[in-house]
Amino acid sequence: MKVLGIMGSPRVGGNSDILLNRALAGAEVAGAEVAGAEVEKIILDKKSISGCKDCKKCNETGICVIKDDMLEIHKKILEADAIIHSVPVYFFSMTAQMKAYLDRWCALFDAQWRWQKVYYPKMRGKRIGLITVCGAADVHMADPIVNCFQPTVEMSKMHWLGTVMASANGKGEIADNEEAKQQAFELGKKAAELPD
Ligand SMILES: Cc1cc2nc3c(=O)[nH]c(=O)nc-3n(C[C@H](O)[C@H](O)[C@H](O)COP(=O)(O)O)c2cc1C
Repeated sequence: MKVLGIMGSPRVGGNSDILLNRALAGAEVAGAEVAGAEVEKIILDKKSISGCKDCKKCNETGICVIKDDMLEIHKKILEADAIIHSVPVYFFSMTAQMKAYLDRWCALFDAQWRWQKVYYPKMRGKRIGLITVCGAADVHMADPIVNCFQPTVEMSKMHWLGTVMASANGKGEIADNEEAKQQAFELGKKAAELPD
């Protein structure tokens, strides 16, 4: 059981990071009850990930022409049973780091937005979760981010684990929000539980 955490904020130790750590702790707990969960966190801001060029070369090959850190992340995406993304709202949307990462999923699809045949067995049913943090009091400020991830998951026959949406401003302020931390923990547990 492999659970991958994707951290989309540049603030290491900030709100998205704290909640993602809780989710990965939940995955470890649930994983221990079954065969043990292997968790890994990737901090996108520490990686070099360019935007998709829409060159369509990957439609034939399934491999992106941009030789940067996303090639290694593609491999980790394929190997993970579940992926939990955590990202703050920047100008009513996701951070540039998370958007570049998400657009580069393009390489895993064919020209009709179906999984490349070689990737289909690994991608179908993959469990995907999302954590959002926004400075505004209303957590639905992050709805546009949910509206990017959820349809992507559903159109491609992955499995949507759901969302934890929280509000916090200062770095690390979310540490005082027990409810959000518990929700993130539960999301992580759900990610690592064996399917019925
Ligand atoms: C460039 C930038 C743009 C932001 N835009 C928004 C916004 O549109 N709406 C909002 O509610 N919060 C906005 N915020 C606030 C962050 O979402 C908030 O501080 C969040 O807690 C940061 O999470 P982090 O600690 O994981 O980085 C913005 C912050 C920055 C730096």
